[in-house]
Amino acid sequence: MSKILITSALPYINGLPHLGHMVGCLLPSDIYARYMRMLGNEVLYVAGTDEHGTTSEVGALKEGMDVQAYCDMYHARHARTYRDFNLSFDYFGRTSSPQNKEITYHIFEQLDKNGFIEERTVKQVYSVDDGMFLADRYITGTCPYCGYEKARGDQCENCTKVLEPTDLISPRSSVSGSSNLEVRETKHLFLNLPKLEKRLGEWIKTKEPFWPDVAYTIAQKWLKEGLQPRCITRDLKWGFPVNKPGYEDKVFYVWFDAPIGYIGITKQWADEKPEERSWKDWWLSAGDVRHVEFMGKDNVPYHSITFPATLLGTGENWTQVDYLKGMSYLTYEGGKFSKSEKRGVFAEDAVKEFPADYWRYWLMSNAPESSDASFSFDLFAAVVNKDLNGVLGNFVSRVLKMTASKLGEKVPAGGMDGDLEKSLAENLQTRVNDYFKYMNEMEFRKAMNELRGIWVEGNNYITLAEPWSVIKTDEARAAAILRTCINLIRIFAILSAPVMPQTSESMLSRLGLTMADIPNIKNFNISQELSALEAGHPFTVGEALFERITPEKVEELKQKYGSSK
Ligand code: MF3
Ligand code: ZN
Repeated sequence: MSKILITSALPYINGLPHLGHMVGCLLPSDIYARYMRMLGNEVLYVAGTDEHGTTSEVGALKEGMDVQAYCDMYHARHARTYRDFNLSFDYFGRTSSPQNKEITYHIFEQLDKNGFIEERTVKQVYSVDDGMFLADRYITGTCPYCGYEKARGDQCENCTKVLEPTDLISPRSSVSGSSNLEVRETKHLFLNLPKLEKRLGEWIKTKEPFWPDVAYTIAQKWLKEGLQPRCITRDLKWGFPVNKPGYEDKVFYVWFDAPIGYIGITKQWADEKPEERSWKDWWLSAGDVRHVEFMGKDNVPYHSITFPATLLGTGENWTQVDYLKGMSYLTYEGGKFSKSEKRGVFAEDAVKEFPADYWRYWLMSNAPESSDASFSFDLFAAVVNKDLNGVLGNFVSRVLKMTASKLGEKVPAGGMDGDLEKSLAENLQTRVNDYFKYMNEMEFRKAMNELRGIWVEGNNYITLAEPWSVIKTDEARAAAILRTCINLIRIFAILSAPVMPQTSESMLSRLGLTMADIPNIKNFNISQELSALEAGHPFTVGEALFERITPEKVEELKQKYGSSK
């Protein structure tokens, strides 16, 4: 048994998750966590909301709320959505927690003590009417290159030129629209990454064999270009006040305390049951812990460079990332998800339309792994109708109905296995081994392809064995076939559990079983599993596992959620 620490990138509090966020880190981390638990590992799976920064302050301002109340409300909405999606976090915490503050302060003090923090004076735009310094992207003006009137202080969306706020013609505050802006000098603290570069480079080398190409390449590219000192403080009110004399009126930059949030959230978890949980067992000198991180690819530099360097600079033995799974992007009906343009399905609404498992399965079998992927309702309906209804759902209802009507609601007795069962077992064992291999490698698209292949083996078997005609002449042989089929249902339920936990539970319940009856799958031997349920074991037929999605429904959904077509 190994200890596996699994984290999903912490979603920004102010952006409610859409399908792209779900598939980018939340869902794959859950599937991996569930799978690792089924292998008998000791898993700690944590995530939470990333709450600090300008976007929260501005978001609260726009909704006329106090920032704390705003974050409380959105935290609850995130948490509810992830519960609805059946994400199996051991804890879903918050980066604004007192626990995270304590650990952030400690890490900062260590960095400062070890000489990795330096002071610098910088020039920044101050909005007199808003009474605050403005982050670059909160300044709007006319682009000096293309004349676009709504260019942001960090970049012109129209011509993509990277800008400095001072480049903008007639700049104004995006918060209030005021043009009463001044450039003021202010002191900030920087993390001296160049001083940590050598140590970081040595550490990354030890990771080469374990990191997927994307992560390793991105990290190497950054190191090759040379690291720059990074500003870790901001002139804001919402955040952790900097614990250094002279900086009390500033807060830490959101990207400084956010990844520390993984540790802070673990402490939140431990503090609930201090007699049986220790956060340090997972994070400090925890040599037996393997840490796997999930994130969208835009997050990779922070997790492969900045955060590891932060931890290295403390001189303490913090758990570092062992494997980093970075996902590409999901597009919606050929374009971008956009809240303001009301395009795309947000996770909150998704589960109101269909059970979470439909989404979980679709998203993982179309995961944007080696390249971007695209969601469309046509593709969604096709997969739900074909794979879930046509292959899995149909098999389950056919087998249980036929057995119940011909032989009664018990696993039938009698008959002998033959060549068909032998080749079924062989084919399945190969598929299952590949499925496990891909799950171990976090190649989710390929894993889902094998899972579907496993269900298909069941369909192929029943088509060849033809219990509906055999039963007319040889009831014992038909009994043997249907016994195998019922055992296949149990096998399908077990193997589908990481991705479709509710469906799996529903399949098991027909067989009088629960999730607790799922065995450790470490040495999953198909021949044995094919006879796990013995003759006489009762079952119930139950309702259809899935519902078909009609073309009319697809049209309705396209209208409702926006479509480019
Ligand atoms: N909030 C960031 C995003 O959604 C991710 C932060 S990951 C963390 O892109 F580890 F830093 F919290
Ligand atoms: Zn421009």
